[in-house]
Amino acid sequence: MTRFQDKVVLVLGGNSGIGLASAQAFAKEGAKVRITGRNQQTLDEAVSAIPGAKGFQSDIADIASTEQVISAIEAEDGRIDVLYVNAGVGGFAPLRDVTEDAWDHVHSVNLKGCIFAIQKAVRLMGKGGAIIVTGSIGAHASLPGNLAYAAAKGGLYAAVKVIAGELVSEGIRVNMVSPGPIDTPLLYRNPGMSDEAVAALKDKMIENIPMHRMGQSEEVARTVLFLASDEASFITAANLFVDGGLLELR
Ligand SMILES: NC(=O)c1ccc[n+]([C@@H]2O[C@H](COP(=O)([O-])OP(=O)(O)OC[C@H]3O[C@@H](n4cnc5c(N)ncnc54)[C@H](OP(=O)(O)O)[C@@H]3O)[C@@H](O)[C@H]2O)c1
Repeated sequence: MTRFQDKVVLVLGGNSGIGLASAQAFAKEGAKVRITGRNQQTLDEAVSAIPGAKGFQSDIADIASTEQVISAIEAEDGRIDVLYVNAGVGGFAPLRDVTEDAWDHVHSVNLKGCIFAIQKAVRLMGKGGAIIVTGSIGAHASLPGNLAYAAAKGGLYAAVKVIAGELVSEGIRVNMVSPGPIDTPLLYRNPGMSDEAVAALKDKMIENIPMHRMGQSEEVARTVLFLASDEASFITAANLFVDGGLLELR
């Protein structure tokens, strides 16, 4: 399939896990892929593995840095057809332990940074454009310790609905994909959790997931590409769970 032939697709957080799998899938379908991330090494590796891709080192929490990325794309490509806002960080701490710094970090990346990225990018988008944002089932379930992350992704879920309503008259669709437990490096990047605690959490999650396995990044990527494509032409303000039935069946 070449649903994205010559489309300019920007994946924010495209050098690892779900974002990387999505960037690869967009490129396979003909897109001109532009990706961001903080880690220059994984960014370079991703760019060299994705035909025609360009990479921009950028911290989504730094709104000026996002603006630089958008300006560079404006100068080079002149437009964005698909914006995939996927950058996100974890951060486990129960109510009694959560610090203001940890809260601010999660919210500056997962909520504020994502929303201002849409604000900056939308000037390059027009009729037929699609924005997809990565949420999480964490925003819709009570997982003890997931306070800051759940609140940020919950805020993002609310923001997506508002933004979808503001952009619908411009012909830009805005949707969310909310993964359940997906086997990516994210779990291992939770400050405050040891590798043993992560392994135990993973086992517990697999036990709870009705399909009894973690999801794969490619399974989320396929949903992202569907929402970005003309096949989803009558879908906006939707939130699609990709979670093996975890949220609804448990
Ligand atoms: N894995 C899951 O079970 C799961 C479940 C629900 C939702 N999600 C969401 O899915 C999204 C992708 O996560 P993943 O599982 O694929 O994890 P991942 O492999 O850790 O990928 C996270 C991506 O976000 C980027 N990122 C993080 N902080 C950033 C920042 N400040 N500025 C720019 N980019 C930043 C990372 O780039 P660098 O490596 O360069 O920082 C990376 O590309 C996240 O929004 C996450 O919350 C994941």
